[in-house]
Amino acid sequence: MSDPGVASERLAAEPFWYEAADDRATALAAADAFRSAYGREPDGVWAAPGRVNVIGEHVDYNGGLCMPFALPARTFAAVGSREDDVVRVRSAQVPGTGPDGGWQGALADVGPGTVEGWAGYAVGVPWALAQAGSDVPGLDVVIDGRVPLGAGLSSSAALECAVAVAVDELAGLGLGNDDAGRARLAAACVRAENEIAGAPTGGMDQAASLRSRAGAALLVDCRDFSVEHVPFDLPAHGLELLVMDTRAHHALVDGQYGSRRDACEKAADLLGVDTLREVRPDGLERAAARLHQVLGDGTAEEVVRRVRHVVTEIARVREVATLLAAGRVRDVGPVLDASHTSLRDDYEVSCPELDVACGAARSAGALGARMTGGGFGGSAISLVDATRTDAVAAAVADAFVDHGFAPPAFLRAVPSAAAERVL
Ligand code: GLA
Repeated sequence: MSDPGVASERLAAEPFWYEAADDRATALAAADAFRSAYGREPDGVWAAPGRVNVIGEHVDYNGGLCMPFALPARTFAAVGSREDDVVRVRSAQVPGTGPDGGWQGALADVGPGTVEGWAGYAVGVPWALAQAGSDVPGLDVVIDGRVPLGAGLSSSAALECAVAVAVDELAGLGLGNDDAGRARLAAACVRAENEIAGAPTGGMDQAASLRSRAGAALLVDCRDFSVEHVPFDLPAHGLELLVMDTRAHHALVDGQYGSRRDACEKAADLLGVDTLREVRPDGLERAAARLHQVLGDGTAEEVVRRVRHVVTEIARVREVATLLAAGRVRDVGPVLDASHTSLRDDYEVSCPELDVACGAARSAGALGARMTGGGFGGSAISLVDATRTDAVAAAVADAFVDHGFAPPAFLRAVPSAAAERVL
């Protein structure tokens, strides 16, 4: 017989896998929730995916390059248009309105600081489209979010983008029909997030949710948000991308994210460039010397590390794009490792849970691992041989027990479709 102490530890370390929601059943449930909330039929149900970022972290707001893709996990929005300009937003999970349950009011009264909590991400979208000159009707909305919350997988962008494709169709804007239009929808979602929800994020997530294609990663050039679809067929190489949600705290609005962004913008200003994208790897030394000169050694040291992360990370995205184009997918692993080191040491946005997840994954045979998304918690990814995925997840779960962390959660990331109408 095995030792009961050992047995219970094994049980505690059993990896927890997120289950993919059944899209059709979730869409029908969202329509039902709409009927009970508003006593009428919705005009339709739309869904938008969360994302994972393969490489290119904290570079979108620096005009850099990043390479996210859409996840199968999506947020659903059942929506009906109205004759007036009232917007009502509710959650399928939390009944009623109020700080947690949603919001209701006139679109004309929406502005920065007027909508509290998660509802701002939804209400901000018709507001931003109206600000951009579109004729937007009032709306009744029920949100059914199936992207893990707080996992760094862009549940908030999924929410915005589900509402965006719904409003687009109901207002007859036609933006959802091609990539150029979707880029405009993404820009409205970014504005909603920045100005109404108050999170100073950079646009990668909305591009991923609205402009991805199944089977491909999305190479985004954040100077002008032009995109390229890069084939990302991991199964053909016997590989999988394992998402490891640390379930540690992750909040973009708590100041750290904004302070990184401010530091980058200040550095660009001091270097006389529009964005840090303009600093090339071979110009890093010169940039560092200049920052030391104007800021003094004490202050410059940290700023130089922030700049170094951005510049080297953009170079790593190019490297991964080149490796993928050459079919050298396994060689992406070490580049992921280098990205993590840079985010941990130079950009300082990792945390112990993310470091332990990546370290344990590598020790268990992952080809590479890095934190993904904003950091300070949330998820990490690892590139693994498909035959090793379960073992890597088990090793990470074990390591979390050893460190006294709450249990992590896992999912296999498969490049999936962009936001669309589902009912
Ligand atoms: C969050 C933001 C994105 C991006 C990442 C970091 O996900 O929403 O805009 O800045 O962090 O790469």
